[in-house]
Amino acid sequence: MKPDIDSLTPATIVDFIGSIFDRRGDEEYLGEPVNMGQHMLQGATIAEQNDQPEEIIVGALLHDIGHFTSEFGTFAMTDTEDRHHEDAGAEVLERFFPSVITDCVRYHVAAKRYLCATRPEYFRRLSEASVHSLNLQGGPMDQGEVAAFEALPNFEQIIAVRYLDDAGKRPDMKTPDYWHFAPMVQRMVDRHMEAQRASA
Ligand SMILES: [Fe+2]
Repeated sequence: MKPDIDSLTPATIVDFIGSIFDRRGDEEYLGEPVNMGQHMLQGATIAEQNDQPEEIIVGALLHDIGHFTSEFGTFAMTDTEDRHHEDAGAEVLERFFPSVITDCVRYHVAAKRYLCATRPEYFRRLSEASVHSLNLQGGPMDQGEVAAFEALPNFEQIIAVRYLDDAGKRPDMKTPDYWHFAPMVQRMVDRHMEAQRASA
């Protein structure tokens, strides 16, 4: 039985995400030499090793959570179409996480389109699977899209998480498991709840 998104609380969301990593982390990441859990854990681990802020570490850890949104139950009975995983991921997280995290999730695909348009060396380093999906995702951004993207409030964090997304595809890398990062994830939830209380 899957929990309804509405039954999750700031006290249960962190463990619930952990149970997704535990149960489904070994699912295939299409066309890549790592599974989904390894992919997200590698990004978070690389961020931690490089002393990046917790919001970047958690953003990398959760950026592909949208691949598992069936875990969060149905949002609306009218919702019959499959959404893009980046939008779906941001949607399930936005009740619990600061916008910097949800923006890193929501825009990680757009960030690839941005970087391909603005940094030629970036395109050359993309994995084969990533080049393939780029074409399905609309190809590199045009000038107007580039300008709009650079104006996003969390632009720098979005780009940082995108680089971690691309880095987290190493067949041989050892990482800690999700539970190593869980206290950090909880701190992000607490920060969001605190900010909401303060603005209420
Ligand atoms: Fe990814």
